[in-house]
Amino acid sequence: MSVLPIARMGAEVLKQRAAEVTDFKDSDLKGFVNDMIETMVEARGVGLAAPQVFRGQRIVIFFVPAGRNGGVEIPLTVMINPVITPLDDATNDAFEACLSVPGLTGTVPRFTNIKYRFHDMMGAEIEREATGFHARVVQHECDHLDGVLYPQRMADMTTLAFADVLQAEAEARGEELELDEEG
Ligand code: NI
Repeated sequence: MSVLPIARMGAEVLKQRAAEVTDFKDSDLKGFVNDMIETMVEARGVGLAAPQVFRGQRIVIFFVPAGRNGGVEIPLTVMINPVITPLDDATNDAFEACLSVPGLTGTVPRFTNIKYRFHDMMGAEIEREATGFHARVVQHECDHLDGVLYPQRMADMTTLAFADVLQAEAEARGEELELDEEG
């Protein structure tokens, strides 16, 4: 296993639509996913999409800590060829950060309630519903597969900021600012 270099905003691979995985028996797939996991852990992210490590394939990994999902942990999940369907029109705003846009954070509107389906490593199809932060992480990561970074989803660009500046200013006001994990 090895930690892979992370592509940063501007890299071509982050602008392109990633290709479907068609060969689940590809001997390289398992090793690559293991490298993605090691890379995400090393970078302290909650999610990572294959294009972020310079591979244009529709592969995403993520997890949701229990504290961010009403006490229910979503364990590390490997999604291949994921597809998202919003369940209704409801949206919510929250800060997002991205390993490919280091140092910055901004407010992004996302669907609150979604259904998503994907193939696991064995090729089996899995369907889940998600809400809140769980739904946000899935939407953020799957956007990477379509060449979209979160600043392109922002409705109010004045909220784009350096995370350490927001933290310092909140501290100076005696407030505690909890920014979201990166994906
Ligand atoms: Ni990201």
